[in-house]
Amino acid sequence: MTSIAIDMAGKVAVVTGAASGLGRAVAVGLAAAGVDLCLIDINPEGLEETRDLLPGPGDTLIHAADLSDPAACKVPIELATARFGRLDALCNVAGLIYLANTPEMPWEQWQRTIAVNLTAPFLLSQAAIPHLLENNGAIVNVASTAAFIGEAYAAAYCASKAGLVQMTKAMAMEYQKQPIRINAVAPGGMVTNIAVNFRPPEGCDFELLKRFSGMRGTVEVDDVAAMVCLLASPAGRGFHGSVLTIDAGITAG
Ligand SMILES: NC(=O)c1ccc[n+]([C@@H]2O[C@H](COP(=O)([O-])OP(=O)(O)OC[C@H]3O[C@@H](n4cnc5c(N)ncnc54)[C@H](O)[C@@H]3O)[C@@H](O)[C@H]2O)c1
Repeated sequence: MTSIAIDMAGKVAVVTGAASGLGRAVAVGLAAAGVDLCLIDINPEGLEETRDLLPGPGDTLIHAADLSDPAACKVPIELATARFGRLDALCNVAGLIYLANTPEMPWEQWQRTIAVNLTAPFLLSQAAIPHLLENNGAIVNVASTAAFIGEAYAAAYCASKAGLVQMTKAMAMEYQKQPIRINAVAPGGMVTNIAVNFRPPEGCDFELLKRFSGMRGTVEVDDVAAMVCLLASPAGRGFHGSVLTIDAGITAG
């Protein structure tokens, strides 16, 4: 279980992708810190499971939504502020990957990757920023090593995560003079549903895939979640416009 020595009692966060993996671990970590949560995911059963796991005295609202739909991205912030009266953190964790030889990737998969991994964090940030500015709040985006190194068969995913990194930095610059912090983490491989369902295209060249698997293996979901929670909390006050690689050395060289 994620455990962090931060106190966020009375604060409110929206976490997307909270039905499994990293998003669930972030929800657990923030709940342990006393945060009231609005948890979003396309998977309603997973959201219920996450809610049942949460420690602490905080209140939790769950909402199933497909974040590839721009209209759905406006709802989470409205729900959170209507229920809890404030917003202190937005954690954009939801994400997906499709692997394909580039000529064969269906347009729908390209479009969905960009919609969920890049457009949804933008639209959620648009809705959240006015509230976050009132509370010295924070946005934490979950990028990937794929933002920095080209991963074979993952052109859409790499493009979406590289876009998310630059979006983080651009927003951080825009809000240099205002009371909000905007950061990202860039994890290496974690053993979650995304990794378990990793399906390289038929007949792919595994030598190319090895390039981004690293020499030290995967990173722990809870270690990445702890950093997301730190960045979301006032204890992360020194971070703004940072993109923290947590990848056991994959991007070292
Ligand atoms: N696991 C890894 O190796 C790895 C590495 C680097 C970055 N990441 C990133 O970490 C984040 C979390 O992924 P994870 O590893 O926990 O995998 P995961 O599959 O367990 O979690 C992703 C969550 O996003 C949700 N989601 C997917 N499409 C959605 C949609 N259209 N609307 C709403 N929710 C949707 C899923 O239902 C799932 O609960 C993602 O942004 C992913 O790109 C993962």
